[in-house]
Amino acid sequence: MPSLISGTGRYLPEKVVTNADLEKVVETSSQWIVERTGILERRIADENQSASDLAVPAALAALEKAGAIPEDVELIIVGTSTPDMLFPSTACFVQSKIGAVKAVAFDQLAACSGFIFALATADRFISSGVYKNALVIGAEVYSSIIDWTDRTTCVLFGDGAGAVFLTAGESGSGVLSTHIYSDGSKSDYLSAPGGGSVHRFTADMIEQKKYKLVMHGNRTFKVAIKMMKEAAEAAMNHNGVTPSDIKLVVPHQANKRIIDMVAKQLGMDRSVFYMNIGHYGNTAAASIPIALDEAIEQGRAGKGDLVLLVAFGGGFTWGSALIRL
Ligand code: ACO
Repeated sequence: MPSLISGTGRYLPEKVVTNADLEKVVETSSQWIVERTGILERRIADENQSASDLAVPAALAALEKAGAIPEDVELIIVGTSTPDMLFPSTACFVQSKIGAVKAVAFDQLAACSGFIFALATADRFISSGVYKNALVIGAEVYSSIIDWTDRTTCVLFGDGAGAVFLTAGESGSGVLSTHIYSDGSKSDYLSAPGGGSVHRFTADMIEQKKYKLVMHGNRTFKVAIKMMKEAAEAAMNHNGVTPSDIKLVVPHQANKRIIDMVAKQLGMDRSVFYMNIGHYGNTAAASIPIALDEAIEQGRAGKGDLVLLVAFGGGFTWGSALIRL
């Protein structure tokens, strides 16, 4: 019983922060940001907007496109590394806010790979017949963990949410495969160390900004390209398809240069890769479902087309999903 993508949705906060705005905050230039990342601007949530607040409109849009209502939903998984709270889960807040009274709800933490991990989990529940449908959401408020005095990270990220509604369907379509991977030995390359049981909430922890994101960008860059390429190949090999069979690749939007390199190393035309990083920056677990919703809306892929999703993030974590729409 494969999972069909019956509806997609997205929500981006209204506030736009341009590279010119950041030039006033840290020592950077729009030219550096555009050349090194492809980012022109990003959306930033209001201080009173949480990850679940962004997730709700995205989830409702996905349900509406699928012709479903919140009471139909059996499972909600939110991929997020900027949850509303340590607990309850952000998924529980979403469940309550949309009135999905029947749904089991939990989060998955895999940084920028969070949506692929959540999709892989939801797909297993549907294909094994446990649930008939699932809302899979990526929702992030990275502005809440960014050090706005650190030019090496603050120019990269943005806030947003995207969602897909999966329903049990017929074989030969829907989620054809998912591949997910982790390597905890590289955890210090990219982390938000504070606030857990290692660096507990103390005045020192706050003073040292341990709750903020830290990244060794250059080291992460090289691993991201290698692992995204390998995850994409795993998806294609598993399903016996070649790059020419793929209508659209929706990669995690971390850096335009990473996407260009992955396309090159796979021997695929860059035009097959959907890219919206220019307008939203890196929205972590939200980036793939936001991009997928936009791409479908723009007609870049439609019913029957093969779409490849591929992500890489902190952990390290990475993975892919091959979908026939
Ligand atoms: N403005 C101006 N100069 C800057 C800025 C900035 N905003 N940021 C860094 N620099 C400087 C650095 O200080 C350095 O200067 P130096 O040579 O004098 O020391 C120089 O630019 C080059 O810095 P690098 O870090 O080598 O720059 P790089 O080309 O690697 O680009 C970037 C940095 C954009 C972060 C890139 O490495 C990258 O995209 N990495 C991967 C990110 C990723 O994929 N993360 C995983 C997903 S995110 C998640 O899971 C949460």
